Amino acid sequence: MNYKDLIKEFEKFAPLYLQEDFDNSGLQISPLEEEVTKAVVSLNLDRHSLELARSRGANMIFTHHPPFFLKHRNLNDDLFIKEFIKQAIREGIGVYSAHTNLDACKGGLSDYLGEILGFNFSNIILENDRGCGYGRYGEKEFESLPFLANYVKEKLNSNSCYFVDAGVKPNKIGYIPGSGDDFIGECIEKGIDTLISSEFGEFEIFWASESKLNLIDVGHFPSENIVVDIFKNFLENFNIEVFVNKKKDIRISI
Ligand SMILES: [Fe+2]
Repeated sequence: MNYKDLIKEFEKFAPLYLQEDFDNSGLQISPLEEEVTKAVVSLNLDRHSLELARSRGANMIFTHHPPFFLKHRNLNDDLFIKEFIKQAIREGIGVYSAHTNLDACKGGLSDYLGEILGFNFSNIILENDRGCGYGRYGEKEFESLPFLANYVKEKLNSNSCYFVDAGVKPNKIGYIPGSGDDFIGECIEKGIDTLISSEFGEFEIFWASESKLNLIDVGHFPSENIVVDIFKNFLENFNIEVFVNKKKDIRISI
């Protein structure tokens, strides 16, 4: 299938207009050969995804995080990610990224995180379009916060997970893939008592603990690496042979 047609189909599922202003989802690098029969799926454009593409003869890599992001506006310095970009260009490998649009769309990463956790809630924590937005929440009772934290850690194969106990039993649970730091206010407003996400700052931890909001930090990578399944399922519908970058959570807990 021609990569342009493939992307057109993908963007019916995860439209680019859903992405945030700071984001840069979409085609990052065009492949040299337009026809795509094999693709790699990965959280990031990294050494492993490039090696996998080369060894399997895949000419497209689908990633969640765009390699061209924020300050990365040129290829002139030695920032490590730029070496990966240059390698992809040298080898004729195309790169397509779906980031915040895939977080927010129906059936995207927020919904899939719920599916993996066995919750499948449909209420949206922060809506950005009709029926789309970041995070989901709903009611489900757990016997204790440590029990829920362990459950989440196992479901997402996280190497390390911590929780902040705000003194309430988990009963109204929210989850946001990636960093949950910007959503504390919405969670408190919606009466969520436990938020599963990652990368909480000191102030947000203080705020949540004073506001009866338990936090479970499962790690950015474990909460997002499941994105490879979404790409894989999509691409296989178009008879693309898919190779998954099986990189694991590299954090080590001591
Ligand atoms: Fe992320």
